[in-house]
Amino acid sequence: MFRPFNGWTRQLLGPAAIMLAMAGTVTFTSATAGAVNATTLGAAAAGVGRYFGTAVPAGKLGDAQYAGILDREFTMITPENEMKWDTTEPSRNHFNFGPADQIVSHANAHNQRMRGHTLVWHSQLPGWVSGINDANTLRSVMDNHITTEVTHYRGKIYAWDVVNEAFADDGSGQLRSSVFRNVLGTGFVEEAFRTAHAADPAAKLCYNDYSIEDWNSAKTQGVYKLVRDFKSRGVPIDCVGFQSHFGNGGPPSNFRTTLSNFAALGVDVQLTELDIASAPPTAYANTVKDCMSVSRCAGITVWGIRDSDSWRSGESPLLFDRNGNKKPAYNAVLTAL
Ligand code: G3I
Repeated sequence: MFRPFNGWTRQLLGPAAIMLAMAGTVTFTSATAGAVNATTLGAAAAGVGRYFGTAVPAGKLGDAQYAGILDREFTMITPENEMKWDTTEPSRNHFNFGPADQIVSHANAHNQRMRGHTLVWHSQLPGWVSGINDANTLRSVMDNHITTEVTHYRGKIYAWDVVNEAFADDGSGQLRSSVFRNVLGTGFVEEAFRTAHAADPAAKLCYNDYSIEDWNSAKTQGVYKLVRDFKSRGVPIDCVGFQSHFGNGGPPSNFRTTLSNFAALGVDVQLTELDIASAPPTAYANTVKDCMSVSRCAGITVWGIRDSDSWRSGESPLLFDRNGNKKPAYNAVLTAL
């Protein structure tokens, strides 16, 4: 089937290939463009209408090797820690956006978009919040935190992880115990999404979690029911982030079923924190292919650039080695795109 070329395709294929294709001799589609010529992750992903991102700590922006790879390869940035509550509001109503602002201005200067991570999370939460036991106080503290942070970055964030890791790992499919659930009840998730939407109606609002890639797990089903309920009642939710911290076997075999079932609810799906123990090329390629198989899979973010940058660096789970060299998994990803 011949499909009209988009701008990226034209740029990547060049005029000669386009003439051949239009004459019917060769049939390229935009879906093959990334694989034809692109030499970076970002360009290859753009060729198939996706982004390719990474987590970035502000402290590494001054590392020339690090920044060189970042700006060559990646089109989306997630601050690794700088937008979390313990950094942004370490004491009540005293906000500190300095470290995250550094990352946002780097992204602006290099044509990269931003994922905001994260507004409401039980972890990296300062003690002054986790100690609140009065519902009215906690509701007003949570809403003020969301409104102030989202307003500060209004118009600069492609997608927010509004609520992170709220579901339990105990097989119950229920929300985990946290100050938010325990003091506010399960409705805190909806409250957070409505508050974020009011502060920046244009940003995509995501629910983000780990171990929700296997369609058969109770945790996946719990999140699915939450998203289905939100969509049926018009609660503003636009996307689900699948963190995708995998063991060396890579994604579960039904990952694409999970992604397409969520997408069928009317949300984008994103791979938000991908890393794979020992980075087997096939496991990375399978993960990318799972995303590519779902049209609403908007993009992939890896959780760090070089193995030495990783939160699980002992497992060497990333696409670049400690010296900034491309690993075999890098080439597997580029080919899969
Ligand atoms: O900034 C302090 C520093 O002042 C102090 O000297 C040092 C001593 O340990 O700690 C530093 O803070 C560390 C922080 O990263 C910044 O480097 C924390 O101890 C450390 O716990 C924290 O780890 C982060 C972790 O989230 C915390 O939960 C990782 O960098 C970050 O990659 C990781 O990211 C999470 C996602 O946000 C959510 N999903 C899981 C993912 C991996 O755990």
